[in-house]
Amino acid sequence: MGTPAKEGAPVTLTIDGFEVTVPEGTSVMRAASEIGLQVPKLCATDSIDAFGSCRLCVVEIEGRRGTPASCTTPVAPGMVVHTQSSRVKQIRKGVMELYISDHPLDCLTCAANGDCELQDMAGMVGLRDVRYEPGRNHFEQRTSVGPNPEYIPKDVSNPYFAYDPAKCIVCSRCVRACEEVQGTFALTIEGRGFESRVSPGAAFDDFLSSDCVSCGACVQACPTGTLQEKSVIELGTPERSVVTTCAYCGVGCSFKAE
Ligand code: FES
Repeated sequence: MGTPAKEGAPVTLTIDGFEVTVPEGTSVMRAASEIGLQVPKLCATDSIDAFGSCRLCVVEIEGRRGTPASCTTPVAPGMVVHTQSSRVKQIRKGVMELYISDHPLDCLTCAANGDCELQDMAGMVGLRDVRYEPGRNHFEQRTSVGPNPEYIPKDVSNPYFAYDPAKCIVCSRCVRACEEVQGTFALTIEGRGFESRVSPGAAFDDFLSSDCVSCGACVQACPTGTLQEKSVIELGTPERSVVTTCAYCGVGCSFKAE
């Protein structure tokens, strides 16, 4: 979650009125979690380096201009942080509005329903309305006008998981998991703005023909239903799961086993 805690000199700061002491180099987000304060986030996780792309974790720091991302901001002695000011709440709601304006609203039939961080964050920031015109990935855009020439089709070539680009929020968690957890470097981000999407590389037609080794690190890292196990799509969420380590490659990435 943000920059991992390090073995540095102790640093004391104040977050939302609570004093906390953490090792030097710890992110503000992680320091907040140490005292039970949850900052909304989409692109940060416990297992991969902070990237600061989603801008949902912004905070205010007294004496500093702007609203820095708490996942990439290291703590400093005497720092006074506000994670719940009306300004950062408004910014987060605006960010979520933009995400949802270009996201399919088929949550009830999505395989990630109930296990979707985008859904969780929309609730957490209190998003109730979206003021913007639906983007091309919006549910209505995908279903009411017939074949949409702009719509990028799903990639179901891999035997274990499917990729639905319309649900991608381009947080790059899958790309970073592929690099940092698996060391495969099979994924990249292509395009810009509304055109940006995760890709197994321009040289490949699909996941199956790419350098992907089907380790599942990207599926595990995905916060939405973009990369989803086929077993979950076809059979639903397993009633029970355990986190284990497969013997396939010995890298040690964890995955859910039914
Ligand atoms: Fe910090 Fe995404 S969680 S910018």
